[in-house]
Amino acid sequence: MVEAAVAAFRYYDCHPAPADLYAEVIGGLSREPRSIPPKFFYDEAGSRLFDAICATPEYYPARVETGIIRRRLAEIAACVGSGGVLIEPGSGDCRKVRELLAAVRPCAYVPVDISGAWLRQAACRLAAEFPWLEIHAVCADFTAPIDLPCRPGGARRVAFFPGSSIGNFDPGEAVVFLSHLAAMVQPGGGLLIGVDLKKDAAVLNAAYNDAQGLTAAFNRNLLVRVNRDLAADFKVERFRHHAFYNQAEGRVEMHLVSRIRQRVRIGDRSFDFEPGEGIHTENSYKYTVAQFQQLAERAGFEPVRVWTDADGLFSVHYLAVR
Ligand code: AVI
Repeated sequence: MVEAAVAAFRYYDCHPAPADLYAEVIGGLSREPRSIPPKFFYDEAGSRLFDAICATPEYYPARVETGIIRRRLAEIAACVGSGGVLIEPGSGDCRKVRELLAAVRPCAYVPVDISGAWLRQAACRLAAEFPWLEIHAVCADFTAPIDLPCRPGGARRVAFFPGSSIGNFDPGEAVVFLSHLAAMVQPGGGLLIGVDLKKDAAVLNAAYNDAQGLTAAFNRNLLVRVNRDLAADFKVERFRHHAFYNQAEGRVEMHLVSRIRQRVRIGDRSFDFEPGEGIHTENSYKYTVAQFQQLAERAGFEPVRVWTDADGLFSVHYLAVR
């Protein structure tokens, strides 16, 4: 681990192993049904497209979650408690945590992200904005168990995992991930987490099929990325975006569906697609409040409070480890 003190924050590089794009894409396309993991959406263009999706009228989760946190900030801050350590796995640009930091005034903030360059920049900006705050930025794969390199004992730990990213894990994987968080925050600690709720299929279908076509571009950008990074020859326009709510599974599924019979080459491998044959690119699970609480209980958390918006679109949970 390399540790560097920079102004008001410290940066810890845990050297996360980079994901093997080639192995995962070849493996996913060789299986039936074909798939590519959603973690590969987020190159620079994909991250920009995701930000743009969050600003569309149809994609309500980001907007509604921010509204809930803003409206219930005093109650949320009382649950989180002041003077502890606030840890944010997958912190990205640390945008969502600002109001919470100001309300809670933790003794330290620990953003954790796999992208070291982004993390450093975001933590630097935050350090300038919150000069009173100790920041320990940790470059690590947050989906694996994290051994926090700072403040080993004493202060109470609370994790913050907004955005309903928990929905992108299959339920079994979600329990494993939440168990890692429970082990990290330890008894006495907690988790503040945003979870998208089950609702009318029409609302979900619109959210993942926005009129501007940004979600379609986000989905297809996966192929643009594979072309660039793996010297593949996907003709992107020959695949259409297909997103729909699968009621039986309780999830929105995204696919890229071949419009025609075609062959795609990736290095020395080739893959044949029939018309209508798809690549499954993402699941986004939706839960009822009770379903998510049961999932969290399996991971060792106890439900404490839950806040929703007036239309019942989204939920923010505070869970504790006893
Ligand atoms: C990041 N994640 C919670 C988003 C979701 O809703 O599952 C990703 C996304 N996919 C399409 N639109 C947004």
